[in-house]
Amino acid sequence: MARDLKKLISEMTLEEKAGLCSGADFWHTKAVERLGIPAVMVSDGPHGLRKQDQEGDHLGINDSIVAVCFPAACATASSFDTEMIYHMGDVIGQECQAEDLSIVLGPAVNIKRSPLCGRNFEYFSEDPYLAGKMAAAYINGVQKWDVGTSIKHFAANNQEHRRMSVSDEVSERTLREIYFPAFEEAVKNAQPKTVMCSYNKINGTYSSDNHWLLTKVLREDWGFKGYVMTDWGAVDDRVQGIRAGLDLEMPSSNGENDRKSVEAVQSGALDEKLVDQAVERILEVLFSYADHRHPEAVFDRDADHEKSVEIETQCAVLLQNNGVLPLKTAEKVAYIGEFADKPRYQGGGSSHINSSKVTSALSSAQKKGRAVTYVKGFPADADEENEEEIRKAVAAAVSADVAVIFAGLPDSFESEGYDRDNMKLPQCQNRLIEEVLKVQPNTVVVLHNGSPVECPWADDAAAILEMYLGGQGVGEATDQLLYGEVNPSGHLAESFPLHLEDNPSYLFFPGDGHTARYAEGVFVGYRYYDTKKMPVRWAFGHGLSYTTFAYDNLKVSAEQMTDDSALTVSVDVTNTGAVKGKEVVQLYISDLNGTAERPVKELKDFAKTELEPGEKKTVYLRICARDLSYYEEHLGDWYAPSGKYEILVGSASDDIRCRSQISFTTKKLLPMKVAGDTTIGDLMADPRTAETVQKMMKEAEKNSSLNQPSSEAGQDAVSDKMMQEMMAGMPLKSLVSFGMMNLEQMEGLITMLNQKL
Ligand code: BGC
Repeated sequence: MARDLKKLISEMTLEEKAGLCSGADFWHTKAVERLGIPAVMVSDGPHGLRKQDQEGDHLGINDSIVAVCFPAACATASSFDTEMIYHMGDVIGQECQAEDLSIVLGPAVNIKRSPLCGRNFEYFSEDPYLAGKMAAAYINGVQKWDVGTSIKHFAANNQEHRRMSVSDEVSERTLREIYFPAFEEAVKNAQPKTVMCSYNKINGTYSSDNHWLLTKVLREDWGFKGYVMTDWGAVDDRVQGIRAGLDLEMPSSNGENDRKSVEAVQSGALDEKLVDQAVERILEVLFSYADHRHPEAVFDRDADHEKSVEIETQCAVLLQNNGVLPLKTAEKVAYIGEFADKPRYQGGGSSHINSSKVTSALSSAQKKGRAVTYVKGFPADADEENEEEIRKAVAAAVSADVAVIFAGLPDSFESEGYDRDNMKLPQCQNRLIEEVLKVQPNTVVVLHNGSPVECPWADDAAAILEMYLGGQGVGEATDQLLYGEVNPSGHLAESFPLHLEDNPSYLFFPGDGHTARYAEGVFVGYRYYDTKKMPVRWAFGHGLSYTTFAYDNLKVSAEQMTDDSALTVSVDVTNTGAVKGKEVVQLYISDLNGTAERPVKELKDFAKTELEPGEKKTVYLRICARDLSYYEEHLGDWYAPSGKYEILVGSASDDIRCRSQISFTTKKLLPMKVAGDTTIGDLMADPRTAETVQKMMKEAEKNSSLNQPSSEAGQDAVSDKMMQEMMAGMPLKSLVSFGMMNLEQMEGLITMLNQKL
């Protein structure tokens, strides 16, 4: 039965309506019992439920119910597997219904601008295309259960340092190309029921007050239909917020802001229709849950634990391997490092889950009767060197066939609420790894971290396996991957720079406390390293397998493309090794037209495919005009110049296997207003003015001495190329200076050209 919300709202008092626009407590909306409006509960995630039954907080301090901790977004993004994350969302959606949670607060899709952001572990990627695809699939999975999601934090919440007040100074082009598309993709292809606005300001305006952000971009440009809630405590000016399109304040301001809204309506400063609109949006989402409960839903912690293990096996990234992995059961193996026994599998703060059980690699190995010894070596929660432990670790490594060092970042090294100071592992771990490497060439390093670390010893390690923060089943997943029961198939969703200083945001991150200048613009992550041809430790998209894949037969459905057409790109991928495996096929686009400030290539599609040994499959990818485009601020739209583009298909951003060129023609014209400083080159390049200017130049050249060097020496000094370039860069006003026309003629020409635009 469709509810008549307008009628319901007409029966509410102004106080009830304003009241509904803020929370009742930390986690509930307000009920209006006399009208049958129930209170509903929302809860953090997003990689599991942090349902707080008792006292609420937004920092992960108080206890929450026992739940299942799935791999964090840093890991799930590395799967490049939209089906898998849809499935994870589906499991979490069911858990929500079973626990009576109307909304799970996520996914978190902010872009990893700097490796230092304390919350990178919760975010998907440095690449907006990948982040958007993963987010949309997760949302579709959760919302299948009539449970809502709250994609967060909209927008540009890319650092923890002063996140509640900092102003990000960032161009519209950069927002539209880098910091918005993950939200845009999710809104357009998954319609999250809610969006959570960020704490920070963008170019001086708090997100919670920002009409352009919350209404123009989110609703008018992208078609968002749900409601916008604040991050916890992110309200700035409640009345302006309602005008801007901010619907729900969380958690609440003890009625203070509700009162302000009421007074503003009464004084005429706020249109009551805007309050009604916010209430309607909230009620729509609220009843979409309350009227669609699923009594069949169960939260089966044991079954979901198994799923978390399976998911993590699809996320881990094999960064390096000289053949030492997979381990053989007959080998004597020394496990070193406390993470073997106490893995770090999730991050601190609002996403912290009270896990039903945690499995370690050590206990998994012991359960399976593997020939594994264990030495603590260093603690998992501190940077403390212990000579005796190092000695024991070295001894264990010497007497084993293979040493596996379980390294990673202690909890206090990365968390919500603050950023990291550096990109280093604790010194005690680097030292121990180096000591072990001196005595045991067959040394494998397993990493547990939420964001990149510098690995100065990487060239000497036999293998490196990145588990990220892999959820409560990380130990079993590690065991299965190390011993080859599952073949690793994750690829990096972020670059690992060699040094922190290489990162493009290094000079500007985290700003001066008041502002954070996004001066690197669109050159984030691999967009920068690739364009600068700067070596990195491991590139975006990199990931190895226990098998190998060959690519051939790249085909593009047409060589020409226009504004409205889309192309299918196909490539044959063959498993050329001896075991089954999954490959992540990545498609990048490169603009070959010398367009200003464009990264050398950008990810525009990907697909994950499983292949038996020897099997060949054709993988299909797609591109459309938007994939060739950049955001042209003068046009207020996406724009790709007519010309040549290259399609690059490969296994990583630094491992392109096949290429093809296409040509593109657009009907879009850039806005132009001709004036004295408009250049001849710009006028020649525009089809609306080219012909007139060409004719005019022919005439003008006759009258000019510029084109006719008077001596042989003059001819040597002035090459054709120089003349062409100088003319192209010459503003109209200079034609007068060089006697090619008089002032009156120039003004007439400007008027005539403007009439053509
Ligand atoms: C975080 C959000 C979280 C909220 C509720 C805030 O501090 O930024 O991501 O959903 O708290 O716990």
